Amino acid sequence: MNISIIGSGYVGLVTGVCLAHLGHRVICVDNDTQKIKELKQGQSPIFEPGLEPLLKRYLKEKKLLFTTSIEEATRQSLVIFIAVGTPSKENGEADLTYVENVARQIALHMDSYKLIVEKSTVPTATGQRIERTIRMTLSQRFSEDPSSRGRARWRNSSKKNSSKGEVPPFDVASNPEFLREGSAISDLMEPDRIVLGVESKKAEELLREIYKPWKAPVVVTNMNSAEMIKHASNSFLATKISFINAVAQICDRVGADVLKVAEGMGFDKRIGRGFLDAGVGYGGSCFPKDVDAFIRLAEKNGYDFALLKEVRTINESQKSSFVRLIEDKLWIVKNKQIGILGLAFKPNTDDMRLAPSLDIVVALKKEGAIIKAYDPQANGKAKDVLPPIQFCKDAYTAAAGCDCLVFLTEWEEFKSLDFAKIRRRMHQPLIFDGRNFLDQDRLERLGFEYFGIGRGKV
Ligand code: UGA
Repeated sequence: MNISIIGSGYVGLVTGVCLAHLGHRVICVDNDTQKIKELKQGQSPIFEPGLEPLLKRYLKEKKLLFTTSIEEATRQSLVIFIAVGTPSKENGEADLTYVENVARQIALHMDSYKLIVEKSTVPTATGQRIERTIRMTLSQRFSEDPSSRGRARWRNSSKKNSSKGEVPPFDVASNPEFLREGSAISDLMEPDRIVLGVESKKAEELLREIYKPWKAPVVVTNMNSAEMIKHASNSFLATKISFINAVAQICDRVGADVLKVAEGMGFDKRIGRGFLDAGVGYGGSCFPKDVDAFIRLAEKNGYDFALLKEVRTINESQKSSFVRLIEDKLWIVKNKQIGILGLAFKPNTDDMRLAPSLDIVVALKKEGAIIKAYDPQANGKAKDVLPPIQFCKDAYTAAAGCDCLVFLTEWEEFKSLDFAKIRRRMHQPLIFDGRNFLDQDRLERLGFEYFGIGRGKV
């Protein structure tokens, strides 16, 4: 099938590559000319395991094309996915300016039937608004009554961008994406479910055809429910994280171990072990933004989503209580040397968006700490968003001369560090594990004093 994806960010790019892998001919669009130039050369703008080899392969096979032209993409495709950014406004609401703009651009250039599919995370009723925007733009283009979608006659042959004949028919659908950064390719290729929010049989058939090779259960519903599924799923996962983080706070106070608590809870099939990892809280471009947007959507519709507000508060306090723990154990922070290992919001990505490290580094620096940091992938991006600190080429350099080491991202390479060597290089053998992923017993045997989150020791 000829498919376009407007927006070559995380979701758009990975979706494009995976659809090419399924055998479709995919055109990926972005308005960032530099990004498109690099993508045409097979260079991925993001670090995502497994992405670049597939990108190079399908570029070579000409199954994947890149352009800055929505016009070109629209004309050559039957199905057009919208995967542009939906940043947060000041009040937490999703800013849908890019979505509206893309919908209008598609309507200005379509000359035959198109299925327009929203993939970006958007508030409920966005699909309906996309549909309305396209209908209104088409009616202006063809100078007809906006209420008669798909039936208006083309009248003004001199109008720019108009083609001959009838107003082209179209459908809008919602097909939310559930991929995670760091495991995006496998999440997309082996999804737990495929959600199709459709308003016509044709839209359903086309989307089913696209995803035919995948064996996942397909949930078919209307657009509003599909949009709600995405919001509710992300917010529920964020709630699970904040719940276990709240439990971790009590564990520390009563001498219980949150790792065992999560294990014991997780065997209950109704609960499940996933997303019960206590730590410095969730970050990234999705959970913080989506929780805010869901709270705002509820508010606008007359419901005070107090539960989600508390989820957000708990998440924020995880960072401040971790900083307090470090300050308490170091006693005097001023002029102490602190090594930060892991800056990205999670492992296997170089994404620094709303990473807990941002607030933690700023807070420790404010207290006068001298910070040395290392992340296996995010050093480059971190330089742009963190206050001036020393970036190191590896964990050993970061640890040298430090009064404590603070782990903020659970990178696999940190688990196999030579901690005896690290211990020899450090000024004081103190470790703060903000992700509860290191082997406490081993570290204590090596002479470290170890502090996790919710491990029953404060
Ligand atoms: C999240 C969802 O998991 C995806 O299903 C969704 O498609 C995506 O948002 C999106 O809306 O685009 P992502 O943000 O890439 O994916 O990463 P996650 O693996 O969900 O982690 C999010 C944050 O939660 C990270 O900071 C992670 O460290 C933290 N986390 C996760 C915890 O603190 N504890 C956990 O148990 C799990």
